[in-house]
Amino acid sequence: MSTKQAIIKILEQNIGVSVSGADIASSLGLSRNSIWKAIRDLRTDGYPINATTNKGYSLSATSDILSPQGIGVFLTNPTLSTAIQVHPTLPSTNQKAKQLATEGASSPTIIIAEQQTAGKGRMGRSFYAPPKSGIYMSLLLRPNLSAKDSTLITTAASVAVCRAIKLTIGESAGIKWVNDIIFRKKKVCGILTEAVTNFEDGTIDYVVLGIGVNVATEYFPPEIRTIAGSLLAPGRGGITRNQLAAAILNELFVILENLESRDFMPEYRSLSVVIGKDVEVIEHTRSYIARAIGISDDGGLIIKTSEGTKTLMSGEISIKGDFYNDEV
Ligand code: BTN
Repeated sequence: MSTKQAIIKILEQNIGVSVSGADIASSLGLSRNSIWKAIRDLRTDGYPINATTNKGYSLSATSDILSPQGIGVFLTNPTLSTAIQVHPTLPSTNQKAKQLATEGASSPTIIIAEQQTAGKGRMGRSFYAPPKSGIYMSLLLRPNLSAKDSTLITTAASVAVCRAIKLTIGESAGIKWVNDIIFRKKKVCGILTEAVTNFEDGTIDYVVLGIGVNVATEYFPPEIRTIAGSLLAPGRGGITRNQLAAAILNELFVILENLESRDFMPEYRSLSVVIGKDVEVIEHTRSYIARAIGISDDGGLIIKTSEGTKTLMSGEISIKGDFYNDEV
């Protein structure tokens, strides 16, 4: 860990509270002058660090810069922070995770970006990922799973994000199948999982689980403005992206430990905003209306049409009627 990272760790652990330069220097075994220089560099990097005579340095309580150290403060397993990389900007964190996977990166590797310039969404769409207002995170995982069970990772991630929202913000979110997270009738999170299968034995070589959360995005492009929303208003209520990212990771790793048991499926079903609703199913060449009646144990959407019942394992649906809150 560099001096700057070690200082950030101390300041994040004491966010809003002053820590004396002498204490920081002695805990890191460095001179007060080197601490002063690192603080100066951190300020240049954008960290809002206050210095008060006789008290020391404090990271402003409104600071909201993603970092492995800042996330680590809230992780159930703080050693996981060594697997986290935070980049100021990337075309796409999924793309970066796939590149690292082919270079042999270990599992888990967690790539986070402050912004994405070519964020990828499902169905070949793009994902809007402006700077400093969201969590754009991809996890490289090498699970010991069949290709069939690997789809559960996306299902698990949806539940983990809902749990994290409830734990940090205190309000419930819902899941629109497959994996859109809905909060106050707006989409606040999308999930894109990409898997590479070993053709010889049908097992998974690696999975890249991409999670994009609009935490405090103020303006969305016109084409998504009626659908997309943010979790927090501009003041953010003292909730930081580090806190939320850690909560997502904490909940996700709890579920992943026991993924094949499917113990989390009843929770997924209870969070579904789709069951019991009429939906338009959009397939490659056609679309049709169906009633969503349930979620299968593999995360498929069970629908009923005039032709009978079937389970969709992938695809796109839109909910009929007044689903999204049209306010912008
Ligand atoms: C969707 O709603 O269509 C899925 C959006 C997934 C977006 C996330 S942001 C982090 C990761 N990197 C990407 O390029 N996409 C995913």
